[in-house]
Amino acid sequence: MWGGRFAAGPDAIMEAINASIDFDKRMAQQDIEGSRAHAAMLAACDIISDKDGEAIREGLLTVLSEIEAGEFTFSKELEDIHMNVESRLKDLIGEPAGRLHTGRSRNDQVATDFKLWTRDQFDAAISGLDALMKVLLVQAEEGADIVMPGFTHLQVAQPVTWGHHMMAYVEMFARDKSRMEDARVRMNESPLGAAALAGTAYPIDRDMTAKALGFDRPSANSLDAVSDRDFALEFLSCASICATHLSRFAEELVIWSSAQFRFVVLSDRFSTGSSIMPQKKNPDAAELIRAKVGRINGSLVALLTIMKGLPLAYSKDMQEDKEQVFDAADSLMLALAAMTGMVGDMKPNVDSLRESAAMGFSTATDLADWLVRELGLPFRDAHHATGALVKMAEDKGCDLPELSLKEMQSAHPKINQSVYSVLGVDNSVASRASYGGTAPDQVRQQIARWNGKLK
Ligand code: ARG
Repeated sequence: MWGGRFAAGPDAIMEAINASIDFDKRMAQQDIEGSRAHAAMLAACDIISDKDGEAIREGLLTVLSEIEAGEFTFSKELEDIHMNVESRLKDLIGEPAGRLHTGRSRNDQVATDFKLWTRDQFDAAISGLDALMKVLLVQAEEGADIVMPGFTHLQVAQPVTWGHHMMAYVEMFARDKSRMEDARVRMNESPLGAAALAGTAYPIDRDMTAKALGFDRPSANSLDAVSDRDFALEFLSCASICATHLSRFAEELVIWSSAQFRFVVLSDRFSTGSSIMPQKKNPDAAELIRAKVGRINGSLVALLTIMKGLPLAYSKDMQEDKEQVFDAADSLMLALAAMTGMVGDMKPNVDSLRESAAMGFSTATDLADWLVRELGLPFRDAHHATGALVKMAEDKGCDLPELSLKEMQSAHPKINQSVYSVLGVDNSVASRASYGGTAPDQVRQQIARWNGKLK
């Protein structure tokens, strides 16, 4: 394809380092879509004949069907998907195939293909996030009244509800989705027609190809168009943050499904057994979701490092972009699907959650608040008095509601019987009815809002 000025072919090592066909064949469909749009435009602008344009477009469809049927022989000698496709087109239609590459270069071609591929991944991740949010909403709805411990420092802090905890993840995944939607809007400019770097002398119509490929407009600077990989970096950034969220949730599921916590039962469909310990049921899917963030973050750092310091415009370094995005996208989609399946199937263990919610003096703040509200104590004093009661209960090895009124009054003489009403976990969660708080009524309002948005 480019051998005109060369006397010798490439060394085998050169071919090995240079060829990208082993991985960029994943963009075959995008490459053919881009070339078909380009050929139609060349014909419409009278740069090639209508007859040649048609022959090229038809021939490309044949190439695509060969690839899809697994009948295509990819060749390393032809370096990449672009030249593999064009070479096969030449076998099929002869001379007109040589006119396809008029007014473009592999530099704008690869940028276009890769953008189309990445754009599909944004769309797939957005639908994956929608599916995950929907199963979380079902969990939240069904468990809106289930009381569980809320933690800070993984120490019991205050009672919350299962619904509230599920909805926290809905908020996180909704931000992931919105980040992806933002990035998708920003990336949707067509590089096609930027040619090698400077644009082209042929009277091409970049609006036409942009429109045909679903781009909002052609990119406005040809140097930028062929050297920009922000869209890939943004995909990887969005994927990293999303994978971080997935890993946090996965970690909770690992902890929650342990015999020590027993907060949740994961389904057999998303667990595995041990080959030596017959009693084991391991949360492998959760563990692997927790781990996937490692390779996704790795891909982000790899591509940031590849792009750093590259002069304008295209450099071959940029060929290393694809494997990072391919691997991260595969990992993310799988992690999203596994999490969705796992969350859809899991069953909260209502009794353990409730029992655990009452542990660790989780209603101590409610007691302090009662002292403020009913006795008019300044919060700091109420905090101190409550601390003394916690210490007393701890020394006796009992929970706060098990202290007698007399013992309560040692912290403040005016404490009366009605204090016991705020020490129960149901009262505790019901009282936190501030906007965004854990009270079931509040959470139900949030569930309704998200149900409306995700319809
Ligand atoms: N396989 C190359 C890539 O992925 C295509 C672009 C090659 N351009 C060039 N001028 N050699 O980046």
